[in-house]
Amino acid sequence: MKLEYDVIIIGAGPGGYVAAIRCAQLGMSVACVDKWLDQNNKPRLGGTCLNVGCIPSKALLESSEIYCQSASSLGQHGVDIKDVSLNLQQMMDRKNNVVNTLTFGIESLFKANKIDWIQGKATIANNDDLPDTKPKVKKVNVELHNNEVISLKAPNIIIATGSSPIDLPIAPIDNQCIVDSSGALAFEQVPKTLAIIGAGVIGLELGSVWKRLGAQVKIFEAQDSFLTFTDQLLAKESLKQFFNQGLEISLNTRLLSAQSKKNSVTVKYHDAEGEHSETFDKLIIAVGRRPNSEGLFEDVTELEFDEGCFFHVNERCETSLPGIYAIGDTVRGPMLAHKGSEEGLMVAELIAGNHREVNYQLIPSVIYTNPELAWVGKNEQELKSAGVDFKVGTFPFAASGRAQAVNETTGMVKVISHAKTDRILGVHILGSQASEMIAQAVIAMELGASSEDIALTMFAHPTFSEAFHEAALAVSGNALHIAQRRTRRS
Ligand code: FAD
Ligand code: NAI
Repeated sequence: MKLEYDVIIIGAGPGGYVAAIRCAQLGMSVACVDKWLDQNNKPRLGGTCLNVGCIPSKALLESSEIYCQSASSLGQHGVDIKDVSLNLQQMMDRKNNVVNTLTFGIESLFKANKIDWIQGKATIANNDDLPDTKPKVKKVNVELHNNEVISLKAPNIIIATGSSPIDLPIAPIDNQCIVDSSGALAFEQVPKTLAIIGAGVIGLELGSVWKRLGAQVKIFEAQDSFLTFTDQLLAKESLKQFFNQGLEISLNTRLLSAQSKKNSVTVKYHDAEGEHSETFDKLIIAVGRRPNSEGLFEDVTELEFDEGCFFHVNERCETSLPGIYAIGDTVRGPMLAHKGSEEGLMVAELIAGNHREVNYQLIPSVIYTNPELAWVGKNEQELKSAGVDFKVGTFPFAASGRAQAVNETTGMVKVISHAKTDRILGVHILGSQASEMIAQAVIAMELGASSEDIALTMFAHPTFSEAFHEAALAVSGNALHIAQRRTRRS
């Protein structure tokens, strides 16, 4: 067995496995250590994202949306389906097959790129006993799944150990009635009543899945406003839509305790009207995630951490220890798969001596509810508090020919540009195609486009994307398919 490499990557999620592939493409010898075991104790690549995150959640969001539409709204298209019924086992099997296809896909990519997949738990050893070579070689001990311990060596280490759900001591996960996001992706039956703590991304996405499948869903959120990190115009509109779908979202509400019985859980909480107690079939805890940074180093004396136990890194993802990089959910910035992957690519290039940067100002975010919510760049509240002068153009999907034809007229596109330079500062989309459309805004902003650049670009008709064109036109009062007060003649 090979024990010395150019680079050792710890973690095979979207940060780690992408870094591994790029390092191998650049000619390095690569070991990627990962401890993940699935429910059958089989080692798996792909980390949180592929196994219990992005992919299975999107599979269930799609299946549940198809079920919900078949049961309720297809009649509007003149498609009458009688006796729609739910086969939850088949839905879960499909989700698991999608996960298997993608995780096996990474396995094939590792083989094709000659990356050694080391299956076990890694610890970065105290390297004082190793000679002071340049660059200094470091030792990583791995406890394999058969309990054997091996030592690997490399001058470069990339930490990509990801994150885990934050637990609440007053509502401990029992994987029966009280679950985290992983448990909520694998319910064997649709709960009649479901409570969720946290109206963040997971609460809204998984709440939508189970609501569409028939559960009565109540989401408890501690903050007094909704989706504080998104543009508040779209956040308020989306809250209205979720309310219309029957998702009950209770803001300014604090969990006091959760007591699990055999088949139910009693939730005590406090809101503006005082204390309450309610019983639900299931409770999902979705109050954020914390980095997997503890216990990774034998000796952390020279290592710097940020608040919240994130590894402290600079813009190049270098930790305070030379030759040791950290990426993805273990470091500052949003916990998103594509952000981790971009950091993995950057670090691979840096190790190879090439130049690469991550543009942290332009990380797109998407919440895959219906309508979807997607954004990039700054929102109105952020610009106001930074004292930046800006212009806004909005365009509702209700005025889009394609949206009308498809019957997906909810939401809008909002373009924000600089008052003087017209450079686009932020784009915010609420609508059924928001996750796909936001890429256009990212490209435009990467290239430094102004709203006028987008206004002067031709978009195919009829498409949802025309709403981006129209919102850009609206910045200067020139939208065509809504009546707008003109702010200037041009
Ligand atoms: P991870 O994917 O968490 O991978 C870390 C890997 O490191 C794991 O395989 C773990 O086993 C391994 N590991 C940890 N410690 C050790 C050790 N000591 N030794 C060996 N191996 C170790 N993001 C999006 O961008 N879009 C989405 O739609 C989206 N949906 C999500 C839905 C859910 C329900 C959840 C929970 C998350 C979702 N995310 C989404 C977030 C996304 O999954 C994470 O941001 C992403 O997986 C982080 O990638 P990573 O490589 O940093 O870490
Ligand atoms: P989150 O940070 O998105 O939301 C957590 C919510 O819980 C917040 O609104 C917070 O105010 C609330 N909260 C915290 N403590 C609480 C308490 N005691 N009582 C009531 N409410 C409380 O975290 P979430 O939803 O757990 O997701 C974790 C991360 O996973 C996200 O931040 C995101 O980075 C990633 N993710 C991304 C997805 C996507 O890109 N579509 C999908 C799912 C997850």
